[in-house]
Amino acid sequence: AHYDLIVRNADIATVGDRYRADIGVKGGRISAIAQDLEGSATRELDAAGRLVTPGGVDGHCHFDQPTSDGSKFADDFETGTRSAACGGTTTVLPFALQQRGHSIQAAVDDYHRRAEGKACVDYAFHLIVADATKDVTQRELPQLIEKGYTSFKIYMTYDDLKLGDRQIIEVLATARRHGAMTMIHAENSDCIAWLTEQLLDAGLTAPRYHAASRPMAVEREATHRAIALAELIDTPILIVHVSGREAVEQIHWARGRGLPIHAETCPQYLFLSAEDLGIDENDPMHGARCICSPPPRDKANQQFIWNGLSSGLFTIVSSDHAPFNMNGPDGKRVAGDDASFDRIPNGIPGVETRLPLLMSEGVMAGRIDIHRFVELTATNPARLYGLYPRKGTIAVGGDADLVIWDQFAPGEEITIRNDMLHHAADYTPYEGMKLRAWPATTVSRGRLVWHDGRFDAAPGSGLFLPCLRPRAPRDGNPLEKWL
Ligand code: URP
Ligand code: ZN
Ligand code: ZN
Ligand code: ZN
Repeated sequence: AHYDLIVRNADIATVGDRYRADIGVKGGRISAIAQDLEGSATRELDAAGRLVTPGGVDGHCHFDQPTSDGSKFADDFETGTRSAACGGTTTVLPFALQQRGHSIQAAVDDYHRRAEGKACVDYAFHLIVADATKDVTQRELPQLIEKGYTSFKIYMTYDDLKLGDRQIIEVLATARRHGAMTMIHAENSDCIAWLTEQLLDAGLTAPRYHAASRPMAVEREATHRAIALAELIDTPILIVHVSGREAVEQIHWARGRGLPIHAETCPQYLFLSAEDLGIDENDPMHGARCICSPPPRDKANQQFIWNGLSSGLFTIVSSDHAPFNMNGPDGKRVAGDDASFDRIPNGIPGVETRLPLLMSEGVMAGRIDIHRFVELTATNPARLYGLYPRKGTIAVGGDADLVIWDQFAPGEEITIRNDMLHHAADYTPYEGMKLRAWPATTVSRGRLVWHDGRFDAAPGSGLFLPCLRPRAPRDGNPLEKWL
C-alpha cells in the first residue's frame, strides 16, 4: 500500500494501551497501525522509539472573543491555533459568546467569520449562554444542538454574563432533553461584589487583592449550588477551572452520591499561586499577568489539584487560554497603569504550554501516568464534547492527530521563554520554568504542522468540527425521583 505519511517506531500511548508500532496515514486519517508496516509513503518519519500520544484536545480556550471593557484578546484564530499546534494541541474548543438581547445564532455566525480563513488546526465551538430566554432554551439551543453545537458554558458571575439559578435550571433542562453538555463557571457573584466593594473602600486596589475578592468559599458555595441544580434536573454538568481543595471536596461529595459531575482544572491551578499576583518588580501592574478567575490559590491547594488528577476526580485538563497583553492600551492595562484589580481583564495565556507542563511535571515527575495524561488532555475532552473517536485517540479510522515527544534528562531541560512560544501575547506566566518535555512534532490530519522547530500550516486549513451529542437525549420528567 502507499501512504501519505508513515510514522515509524512510535512508542504509542493511549488511555488503554502502550506498544511499539508504525502508523500509516492516508487522506488525513490513520489507515493502518502495525509492526513493520509494509508499503511506501510520500513522507516517512522515524519516531525512533519516542513517545507518541494523541493530538491534544483543548476543551476550553478563548480566541478573539468580544469583550465589554474595551480590551482585546491578544490571540485571534490564526495565532491561537498556531500556538496550539506548536504545543501539541490539534483540536481547540473556543466559545461563541451570546450578547444579552441578541440571539445565539448571531454569535455563532459572527464567530464563524472570525475563524474562517484563519484557523490552522481543527476547531469546534462551545456556546456561551448569557441570556437564557424562553426562546433561547426552547427553540435556539435545540436547533443549534442539532447543527453540531452540543455544549454550552454558563456563568454564575460576571455582570454581563451571569445567569440566575432559575435560568441555569432552564439551560440544564434543555441540556437534558437534547443530550448536550453544560459547563458551569462557579463563583458566587454577590459575594464577589460585596468583597470587592469592601476592598476598594479600604484602598486595597492592587492586583493581589483580586485573590482576596474571590476566596475559596465563593467558589465552594457556587460549586455546591451548581451540583444541587444538576441533581435536581438529573443531568450531567462540568464544573470548569476548579482551583482548589474546597471545590474538589464538593465534587468528591457529589461523586460519592453517584451524581454525574465532571470537573476541569487548568495548569494555572497547578503551577501558580496567589503570591504571583503580588510580585512587584517596581511595576504595580506586574501581578496582573496572573489575574484570572477563579484566582490561583496556594501550595496546599495546588497539591489537592494534583491529587485530583491522579485519583481520577478530574475529567479533563484544559488551558483556559485567555490572553491579554501586559503592554499596550488594550490588554491588562485597558483601565490604566494603576487600575484597581476589578478593572483588569481576567485570564492568562497557556494553550501552547498545557501539554508540555503536564507531560513534564505530571508524567515525568511521576505524579500521573501516561495513560491518565492522554485521558485528561485528549480522550476525555473529545468524549465529553462529542468528538470521539475521530479525535482524542490513536486508532484506525480516526484523524491522524499525533504528538511525537522530545523528552529530556535532568540537567538538559528546556526553559520556557515567551519568545519561543507562538501566541501573540507578550508574556507567559511560566517564563523561566524548566521542563523535561516538549513536542518534537505535531501531526494534524496527517500534516506536520510543527516539526523541527518550525510551524507549517496555512491559515484556514483547520476544519470546523460539528460535535455529536455527548449523550442520548432524555425524555421523562426529572421530577419523578422526587415525588
Ligand atoms: O479568568 C478567566 N478564566 N478568564 C477567562 C474567562 C473564563 O471565565 O473562563
Ligand atoms: Zn470561566
Ligand atoms: Zn517581570
Ligand atoms: Zn475560560
